[in-house]
Amino acid sequence: MSKETLVSLAKDNIKHANAKSVSLATGTMKIPASDYTDNKRWIIEKNKLFHRLPLLVAMSCELPEERSYLSIEAAGIPMIITRDENFKLHAMLNSCSHRGAQILDPGCGKIKRLTCPFHAWGYDLDGSLAHVFASDVFGEIDKSQHGLIRLPVYENAGLIWVNTDPNSNLCISDYLCGYDNLLQHFNFRNWKIFGRRSIVGPNWKIAYDGYLDLYHLPILHKKTFGSDMPYKSLAYSWGPHTRVTSPDPDLAKESLHVPPEDFDIDNLTSGVWTIFPHVSIASFDAGCRGVLISQLFPGSKVSESITIQTYMISRDLEESEATEAQTMFDLLETVVSEEDYKTGLKQQAALKTGLRNEVIFGRNEEGCQTFHRWVNKILETPDSELPQLFKSAHRWEHTR
Ligand code: FES
Ligand SMILES: [Fe+2]
Repeated sequence: MSKETLVSLAKDNIKHANAKSVSLATGTMKIPASDYTDNKRWIIEKNKLFHRLPLLVAMSCELPEERSYLSIEAAGIPMIITRDENFKLHAMLNSCSHRGAQILDPGCGKIKRLTCPFHAWGYDLDGSLAHVFASDVFGEIDKSQHGLIRLPVYENAGLIWVNTDPNSNLCISDYLCGYDNLLQHFNFRNWKIFGRRSIVGPNWKIAYDGYLDLYHLPILHKKTFGSDMPYKSLAYSWGPHTRVTSPDPDLAKESLHVPPEDFDIDNLTSGVWTIFPHVSIASFDAGCRGVLISQLFPGSKVSESITIQTYMISRDLEESEATEAQTMFDLLETVVSEEDYKTGLKQQAALKTGLRNEVIFGRNEEGCQTFHRWVNKILETPDSELPQLFKSAHRWEHTR
């Protein structure tokens, strides 16, 4: 079914490429400039988005085998993800049930049991408390009630989502609105991580807008990507998650020889796939197929974000291909840091003056419009109504 959706998307793209047309939002959209700069709003966004919604925190290939673990911090929450002896995935707060110490330093690898470095309490890979050091002198304790705090976790398409709210009643699959089934076609489970780095940037929404907007490509990135980059976009949404492509004449040409049903998967999954509220997956060719996965998180203040750039490749590379991939990965750091985020920091400084009341998104910036609408919608939605919000959300495949 999801392959059929990718084919329909390709057909829609070809239709626009042949007609030299583009789909546009129904109108322009204004948002208050203070949405980007207001500290109170930023705290609410952290609580209602980053600490209440599932976040894409890891790739399945980081936990390739049974008894592997990954210790990371996401949105300020230290967490441990494990794959147990039965290949089942678990996510837990990285905080010991005794006095809260962090059990593992950041990193990944193989592990049999989680042992706290403070007083050696030991946990099974599913987070249950298995061992209390010197229990004869510690006092009565019901081990079954003192496991690690478990976090909802979900794996699909070679990607791993965790909800940092342990009490969330939101089903992560419902939250993804079927989008994860489309992402399955990348087959990320078998990909490798080529490199990873983090970049400090402006407010997370200023930074994230750039991933949803093709309008700026031939202008801001003329010296790096070139002035012939497409600026017309086609935005397709599944709930808050949006894929952005542009009408592609090469795809239209290809369809003269090959029916879209028989397109290879690279053609069917091109463009930028954003995953609300903080991830972008963009395809690049560097020796073999590569994607840049960008995970954006709020930084330590309203005017700061942290972007983790992970460059993934579809197979092992020869030495010369690895050089090419490194060149591409380095270029992507320059583009994001020296062009996108440098511009964003200056945009932010101008907005912070408070002299401009609002900013405007064009009909051709539908991806940004959808993003900001969803941010507002979720901020207004109480916990109890969140599941229904995503269950009943608009999905592209159901309407055309
Ligand atoms: S804090 Fe972990 S064993 Fe004491
Ligand atoms: Fe950009």
